Amino acid sequence: MRAAVITKPGGPEVLAIREVEDPEPGPWDVLVRVEASALNRADILQRRGFYPAPPGVASDIPGLELSGTVAATGEHVTRFAVGDRVMGLVGGGACADLAVLHEREAIRVPAGLTATDAAAIPEAFVTAFDAIVLQGGLASGQWLMVDAVGSGVGTAAIQIARALGARSAGSSRTAEKLERCGPLGLDLAVVGTTDDLAKRAKAELGDGVAVALSLVGGAGVAAMVAAMRATGTIVLVGLLAGTQANLPLRDVLGKRLAIVGTVLRSRPIEEKIAVARAFEDRIVPLFEAHGTAPPRLHPVVDTVLPLDEIASAHTLVEQNATFGKVVLSHA
Ligand SMILES: NC(=O)c1ccc[n+]([C@@H]2O[C@H](COP(=O)([O-])OP(=O)(O)OC[C@H]3O[C@@H](n4cnc5c(N)ncnc54)[C@H](OP(=O)(O)O)[C@@H]3O)[C@@H](O)[C@H]2O)c1
Repeated sequence: MRAAVITKPGGPEVLAIREVEDPEPGPWDVLVRVEASALNRADILQRRGFYPAPPGVASDIPGLELSGTVAATGEHVTRFAVGDRVMGLVGGGACADLAVLHEREAIRVPAGLTATDAAAIPEAFVTAFDAIVLQGGLASGQWLMVDAVGSGVGTAAIQIARALGARSAGSSRTAEKLERCGPLGLDLAVVGTTDDLAKRAKAELGDGVAVALSLVGGAGVAAMVAAMRATGTIVLVGLLAGTQANLPLRDVLGKRLAIVGTVLRSRPIEEKIAVARAFEDRIVPLFEAHGTAPPRLHPVVDTVLPLDEIASAHTLVEQNATFGKVVLSHA
């Protein structure tokens, strides 16, 4: 099969398109003919040699999410048949024309979505749903606060918040991204850093923030504490702005806050399956029209490039100029 391969640690130029062996589905796996995959920051780290693939996953083929069609099924598979459209998260290897997924990790593609739209869903929306709903417990009427809100995960989080009946405040260092977040449901837009967002939220959101989602981490997480309401939850999902923060522990204690760190890729398969199943039940229908009611959620795609142009796609993500996802078409 055709695959994008990391030939050695380095810049985007180390990515090459090669012929490699097809993967073999296990008894509970589906073999997916990948029609589209999408990029993540973890791919960039892996390409640079800082984020090795988990055991059992091809170490040199990047790609953590995909959409496509079931090409073959393992002998015990019951949920899907050849020809079904699926999407999902993988530990690596999505940037290839074939990939294997455990049938219970595979998620059906919402009706009416193209393969490139579907490939933009898993990392952004599963991460956001898991962080703000399953772990943060966000509920109707509450405030969510998100930094780097114009990112793939950020644009997913504010849409899910709106679908739940919650409100959202978000920051980006790029004003134009914030304007584009308005139609997705962002209620309070702050041009700047996590620190700027937290200060505005503290000043303007009377009862405080129930759930904070930090996609960039760093020192600004300390300021989030002051904006939280009692028993709120701060969920730490990314560290682009840094790995250290000086937290005001008196406030964490006094407000009985929870601070949760989360990753999806390295979780045990049982946990990944539980999230995938909850996502398919509760979130996938929101991407679909029901009678005259339009879809409540929309994949946010910045750019679609052919798989052969994966090096340009990596460069695009690293420039921080994208709004939503960069998708690779395998057509
Ligand atoms: N834990 C998990 O399982 C998991 C899963 C998926 C993603 N993530 C993490 O979640 C974060 C968002 O991922 P994504 O793919 O949605 O991102 P993305 O679409 O690539 O967007 C990230 C945005 O963050 C902002 N940014 C970059 N560097 C920054 C810095 N040093 N300080 C402040 N802002 C910065 C940039 O926007 P502006 O310049 O406009 O502000 C950039 O466009 C990343 O940290 C990623 O690693 C974690």
